[in-house]
Amino acid sequence: MKSYYDIVGDGGSRVLEQVAEQRSRITDGLAEVRHLVAIGSGKGGVGKSTLTLHLAEALRARGLRIGILDADFNGPSQAHMAGVEGALFVPGSRKVALPRTRTGIGVFSMGTMIPELEALEFESVAHGESHTWRATREFALLGEILGAFEWGALDLLMIDLPPGAERTVQFADFLGPRTSFVLVTIPSEVARGVVARSVAALSKGPNRLLGYVENMSGYYCRDCNAVKPLFVSTEQSGLEIPCLGTVPFDPELARHCDRGIPLEELPDTPVGRALEHVAQHLLDSLESTPESPR
Ligand SMILES: Nc1ncnc2c1ncn2[C@@H]1O[C@H](COP(=O)(O)OP(=O)(O)OP(=O)(O)O)[C@@H](O)[C@H]1O
Ligand SMILES: [Mg+2]
Repeated sequence: MKSYYDIVGDGGSRVLEQVAEQRSRITDGLAEVRHLVAIGSGKGGVGKSTLTLHLAEALRARGLRIGILDADFNGPSQAHMAGVEGALFVPGSRKVALPRTRTGIGVFSMGTMIPELEALEFESVAHGESHTWRATREFALLGEILGAFEWGALDLLMIDLPPGAERTVQFADFLGPRTSFVLVTIPSEVARGVVARSVAALSKGPNRLLGYVENMSGYYCRDCNAVKPLFVSTEQSGLEIPCLGTVPFDPELARHCDRGIPLEELPDTPVGRALEHVAQHLLDSLESTPESPR
């Protein structure tokens, strides 16, 4: 029986040409995007998607041109949170136009195409090998999406990643060195430990690690208008990258995320002010740290 190692060249599949073709479509599609910023974390449920959307809104309010790519194909949240569930994909001038939030941010999310009661399935031809198939198909699909949609001229494309330290590195590999990373943690020792592994894993590669955001850092009590402790943990995170800011938990924000509508009064709340602070630090960091080569 022939093994993988017996295949000479591309085995006649033209796979190398196809990959090169896809790469050039992606490069062309993202040519007018100034910064690619991926929001990741080894840990799940820490607020990556929430921060992606609300940082995008904070940056848009400053007049920047922002897009969102929800790269979590199996647990897409952006369609629901940003209110673009069930939006129609329509042809743009050259490629497919992105659905837009009420505030005009273009969002790609698998949740726009697939209703929440259905799962995204990658059918496997090889029984028992579906894990191998899945990763390959998932990244091939990501490439198709990057190449097929009209991202346009953007200051920042924010990429909402799925959880997992190893997954984060796979995205770094796929998206290439021009993608910068922001990691999200919460002030629990367990979460910080998992995020420390993501820092270690990403530090081996060429991607810029801009810093981390500590989310759910206290709880905003609307009755007493004060931020109260939520986790009992040390103030120092121990993470060896810059802290871009801390964001408290606000139940009203969670409610609005669930309803897919923006929280109007957000800029005047502790969470809104915290997001402003993070947005400023993120921009400063993008401008002040040297860019990795494209
Ligand atoms: N600062 C916050 N204030 C209020 N609610 C928040 C805050 N951060 C996150 N949430 C809520 O917590 C839940 C989990 O957040 P989110 O989905 O953003 O996490 P995630 O890290 O993207 O999860 P996953 O790993 O599954 O992708 C959501 O219901 C969200 O609305
Ligand atoms: Mg998420």
